[in-house]
Amino acid sequence: MTYLVAYASALGSTREVAQRVASRMEVALGDVECRSVEEVVFVSRYEGIVVGSAIHNQAWLPPALLFLSRHELELAKRPVWAFSVGMADALPKPFRKRGAAIQQERLGRVLSKRVPLRGHKVFSGVYKARQMPAPLRLMFRLAGGRFGDLRDWSAIDAWTDQIIARFAKPRSPL
Ligand SMILES: Cc1cc2nc3c(=O)[nH]c(=O)nc-3n(C[C@H](O)[C@H](O)[C@H](O)COP(=O)(O)O)c2cc1C
Repeated sequence: MTYLVAYASALGSTREVAQRVASRMEVALGDVECRSVEEVVFVSRYEGIVVGSAIHNQAWLPPALLFLSRHELELAKRPVWAFSVGMADALPKPFRKRGAAIQQERLGRVLSKRVPLRGHKVFSGVYKARQMPAPLRLMFRLAGGRFGDLRDWSAIDAWTDQIIARFAKPRSPL
């Protein structure tokens, strides 16, 4: 059985999250392919699919949305999980959890209209000062915002383990 982890990434942090998910799945489940959404031609040979995208302007990147619509019929026949990579953890502390929860709910709802999802999770990615218009940076920092690599690898691993548990076969008694 082969599994697919597909991603759309503008600057690389979502690709690295996808690679981490795929490596962990591979250790537990065996055959896992990690590909950019543009590389995927067919999804019919995969037992399960994880697809992720960076968030830009509160939405998935266009190639990730195209992936969902192009493979809509086949995706609907197999278990699909989605993850989104944004910047909620860059926000001032009181807004981080709430920001991620709002994004998770809203994006999950939008994506589920295209493809039934077993789950959707928002992770924070890498948010550099240069990604924000210069005049806003100081204000953002003064308000408690931060920049940097905000990826929470243990949260990513824990989410991956939930997917693995869905596929892992119970060991047969000796
Ligand atoms: C042009 C642009 C727009 C962005 N818009 C959002 C957004 O609306 N919401 C969000 O949470 N993060 C947003 N971000 C932050 C990115 O999602 C974050 O940096 C992520 O790690 C990028 O993933 P990538 O490295 O795979 O491209 C934006 C970043 C850029 C460069």
